[in-house]
Amino acid sequence: MQTARDLIAEYTSTGTLEALPKGHFIDGTFIRPSHNRTMESFDPGRGEAFSGFTAGTREDVDQAVRSSRRAFETVWRDTGPAERGRILQKAAALILENLDLLAVTETLDSGKPLQEAMGDVRGAARAFEYYAGACDKLQGDSFPLGPDHIGYSIHEPVGVTAHIIPWNFPISTAARGFAPALAAGCTVVAKPAEQTPFTALLLAKLLSDAGLPDGVLNVVTGTGIETGAPLTSHAGVDHITFTGSVQTGKAVMKAAAEEVTRVVLELGGKSPVVVLSDCDREQALNGVLGAIYENAGQICSAGSRLVIERSIHADFVEQLVRRTKALKLGHGLENPDVGPVNSAEHLAKIAGFLDRARARGASIATGGSVTQDPATGKGWFFEPTIVDSVAADDELAREEIFGPVLTVQVAEDAEHALALANECQYGLVAGIYTSDFARAHRLARRIDAGQIYINEYFAGGIEVPFGGNKKSGFGREKGLEGLKSYCKTKSIAARIA
Ligand code: NAI
Ligand code: MG
Repeated sequence: MQTARDLIAEYTSTGTLEALPKGHFIDGTFIRPSHNRTMESFDPGRGEAFSGFTAGTREDVDQAVRSSRRAFETVWRDTGPAERGRILQKAAALILENLDLLAVTETLDSGKPLQEAMGDVRGAARAFEYYAGACDKLQGDSFPLGPDHIGYSIHEPVGVTAHIIPWNFPISTAARGFAPALAAGCTVVAKPAEQTPFTALLLAKLLSDAGLPDGVLNVVTGTGIETGAPLTSHAGVDHITFTGSVQTGKAVMKAAAEEVTRVVLELGGKSPVVVLSDCDREQALNGVLGAIYENAGQICSAGSRLVIERSIHADFVEQLVRRTKALKLGHGLENPDVGPVNSAEHLAKIAGFLDRARARGASIATGGSVTQDPATGKGWFFEPTIVDSVAADDELAREEIFGPVLTVQVAEDAEHALALANECQYGLVAGIYTSDFARAHRLARRIDAGQIYINEYFAGGIEVPFGGNKKSGFGREKGLEGLKSYCKTKSIAARIA
């Protein structure tokens, strides 16, 4: 087994990795379709291509969906729940055995610091472990119909499920969708983002090695238009789990409507971190920094709006700025504090927000510009940025930037902080920092978001349901609730007298 050190040495000398898969993963094997169309994937830390992959077509998607349909009807839905659990448990172990390969690949493809990628891979293993234990606990109900009848329900798998995966958390998003779908007895066709195709392919092979029957999980790579759209509009798909932008989410929902396909949409966010004057200052500072600079802010649930009480505002922002200036940028493999952003296009989008803000006379407390890896002069980097005293109707407080840019909103008191937190088209998550627990829980009830973190941003794991309100989407992933998306309840009532 190659270690991270071996893999980094290989990449440094050859500019690529031999172990990267080529082709789609269909019917238990990597296949290269006859059209032989390819695209390149880029290492954002250098801004250079490091490997090609297959640019899928409608025909490739159709082949994968037919394979998944066959596997659903002939094997997987009738595989015993305990056996499904054993395979998922084995997959969790194989993911951990391949931690280094998966993490180095994720860092090269997405740009994120290697330690973060390792955390994502461990989280992916944990998702399989969690749902492995749930396979044989999908119990139905019985209904009180009186002495002459019996009534009960069973949870059947919905069938073939499509998973459209974004580039910011490629292996995490794949695992949190695949594991519950497979646990419920569904089969999977996945379409990873064209910026980050490799870890989904590696994961598919590991699942196959763990004993997953051929066709139960297929992965087709390519663009959103040429592979994503044919997949989400395919009549052979019974459910779609989509994670990505609001705009594409709407397109997916429209496509799903045509075939009356179920959808779970996990879209954007502009999540507030409410910091009250009675907070533990050190805890809040660390929390706010992690909430916006992890993965260079490219997180749907990033804490991108600091909502802070006026009495501590000046001092708190001063300390945030000081710590932000000390953050080290660098290539993900060097384990910097903050890595590059994922693509040149995305970098330009982030820069556009700051250019417009500057033109409006915004108060940029630190950062605000495009930069490069200080060691090489290469890569797609944006300076960790704080913009102070932003009005609630400013685009910096309204729109998802998806980069290392923190917007500060000043609140007069806790009630005003609540109003600012809720004055937003999104409702994915919110953070609260206060040492008054009763106050924290009262606020938690009144903030319109799918999940609330108190005194630790990103608290919780696969056990905790996750999803959005308002324009952040609907449906919940993770937890036992996430399993329900992949089940359909069948009620059975019978006369016995
Ligand atoms: P996107 O939503 O277009 O891409 C996400 C996935 O959808 C990719 O796999 C893509 O290939 C696929 N896709 C694109 N068009 C499709 C279509 N018509 N039908 C089916 N699948 C399609 O997002 P993009 O362009 O990568 O990023 C744009 C913005 O979206 C970002 O700046 C960020 O604000 C937001 N975003 C939010 C994410 C989240 O975690 N909620 C993740 C990625 C992006
Ligand atoms: Mg890439």
